[in-house]
Amino acid sequence: MRDDVRDFVRTRYGRIAKSGGSCCPSCGCGDSDGNARSMSYSEDDLRSAPPESMMGLGCGNPIAYADLTPGEVVLDLGSGGGIDVFLAAKRVGEKGRVIGVDMTDEMLGRARDAAVQHGFMNVEFRKGEIESLPVGDSSVDVVISNCVINLSVDKARVFREIHRVLKPGGRMVVSDLVTNGDLPEDLKRSLDAWASCIAGAVEKEVYISLIRESGLEDIRIMAESGYSGGVPEFLTKIKSITVYAAKPKV
Ligand SMILES: C[S@@+](CC[C@H](N)C(=O)[O-])C[C@H]1O[C@@H](n2cnc3c(N)ncnc32)[C@H](O)[C@@H]1O
Repeated sequence: MRDDVRDFVRTRYGRIAKSGGSCCPSCGCGDSDGNARSMSYSEDDLRSAPPESMMGLGCGNPIAYADLTPGEVVLDLGSGGGIDVFLAAKRVGEKGRVIGVDMTDEMLGRARDAAVQHGFMNVEFRKGEIESLPVGDSSVDVVISNCVINLSVDKARVFREIHRVLKPGGRMVVSDLVTNGDLPEDLKRSLDAWASCIAGAVEKEVYISLIRESGLEDIRIMAESGYSGGVPEFLTKIKSITVYAAKPKV
């Protein structure tokens, strides 16, 4: 199942990178109106990021809660077309640096092309898996991620990796989809639903426990929203959350 999921997810996002569209109509990677992926960004942000990086694949706005300051080193897990990398790059400035990690070649190609095209000198896109980050220990001030960890078959390992790469006192702000109640069994077994950010979503309490077990602390839910009305029943059990956590200083 694990390799099947990873291969399916990689193929799906490779196709999306080439077509430029959203993951699919039932993606679930949005908030309450199912169409608010880009809407959670400010007009200024939408104007300042390369248009080709905005693919409508996120489910929140981690940058809004990350309090980035000039000079910081930021790591984006599952950077996709790079929207959050480019927004972070503006905030950390030329003395800072933003690294995007993604496992899909086509996404990396798209993001790297946008960086060159739009003259971003302080960004880098590395190929890798979020369960085994191509980043040194204690080297990053802030880890962000937007609608990616739900796609992982080993979320505990992802959070342990976040803890490993953060500097002492560093912080994590991730937006993701979680559940509130059981999803139908056939949905949970569907690779299509997995790649659409639904089948891999876990209960909110489980998600928070995994973060805590990784050693991160001061865990706070910064934003939460869900679906309502006019959607299939299972979608009402899916929530978008943005979570903050910090690595202890010592
Ligand atoms: C739903 S998209 C989100 C993209 C981006 N964060 C955004 O908000 O536009 C998920 C991205 O995560 C990548 N991805 C999924 N699972 C991954 C994994 N285990 N390791 C690395 N990248 C992964 C996919 O290739 C895809 O680019």
